[in-house]
Amino acid sequence: MAPILVTGAAGGSQGGTGRRVAESLLEAGLPVRAFVHSDDARAAELKDLGAEIVLGDLREIQSVTPALQGVRRAYFTYPVTAGMLDAAAVFAAVGQQSGLERVVAVSQLGSDPQAGTPHMRRHWVAEQALDRAGIGAVHLRAAVFFENLRVAIGDTGVLALPLGSPDTVLPLIAGADVAGVGSGVLRTDGPVDPVLWLAGEIMTVGEAAEILGVPYVPVDAGEWARTAIDVYRDEVAVEHLTHLWTMFAAIGSGHELFRVTESIEQFTGRPPITLREFATAG
Ligand SMILES: NC(=O)c1ccc[n+]([C@@H]2O[C@H](COP(=O)([O-])OP(=O)(O)OC[C@H]3O[C@@H](n4cnc5c(N)ncnc54)[C@H](OP(=O)(O)O)[C@@H]3O)[C@@H](O)[C@H]2O)c1
Repeated sequence: MAPILVTGAAGGSQGGTGRRVAESLLEAGLPVRAFVHSDDARAAELKDLGAEIVLGDLREIQSVTPALQGVRRAYFTYPVTAGMLDAAAVFAAVGQQSGLERVVAVSQLGSDPQAGTPHMRRHWVAEQALDRAGIGAVHLRAAVFFENLRVAIGDTGVLALPLGSPDTVLPLIAGADVAGVGSGVLRTDGPVDPVLWLAGEIMTVGEAAEILGVPYVPVDAGEWARTAIDVYRDEVAVEHLTHLWTMFAAIGSGHELFRVTESIEQFTGRPPITLREFATAG
């Protein structure tokens, strides 16, 4: 059987979705080619689990070409940082040449040319590049990861965000559910909708903070951006998140996209993970 290429397979601080997809496919007995960015302990663990390891940079065609050799299905994820469009364009071009038949790609809930953050607009462009390559793209347009709130809290003991009122509504999801859908789609032979909206729980930021056991503290967006760079150490991530939180504050009590979606249960076979379950699991 052809190996399934899983990018972001080492996992990272955003959702670890690639890592979870790789593990889930390996547990199902499927051959996994794990694309890793660093030759480190995470890669060694994947190798021990039975994955074939390929090391490279997704922005570099000379890394992606051998990685996609003989592959028919792939999971594509690239963190919120510079280079996502380069990576998507390379993956689209090489995937088309190498005969890729399905790629499950992580995107964001509001991906659209008019989206409220520059990175969401880039996600829409990345979706177009993958679609036009005719490689069976399925886009996972995911809500805010629970993990994102945990990173925002860090060791501060408060959830300080520029979200205005504690009644501002957030669409949320566990990284594990994004990965569960990704793995499920990769194991599905029949047709799948090219766009899957993924939200597992809708709640106010005040409720989310309470579940995570900390107070919510509204802060000014400019002030948040100035301190966030020390936490995220990435200008693209801070730019994206500053716009994202400001956008949610402006939307306030909800948007038509803010609804729990059936795709999670459809592809994982269980209800979405709740924030309370995520918090309890630690
Ligand atoms: N965070 C949220 O709230 C949220 C919400 C909705 C959608 N999303 C989407 O979720 C995606 C990210 O999730 P994730 O779970 O994959 O993130 P993650 O857990 O941070 O993992 C990112 C992986 O990509 C690897 N990587 C980084 N740069 C690379 C490069 N140039 N070439 C090859 N690999 C590279 C990292 O490896 P190293 O660690 O070795 O660099 C890491 O293993 C993004 O598309 C984002 O827009 C996020």
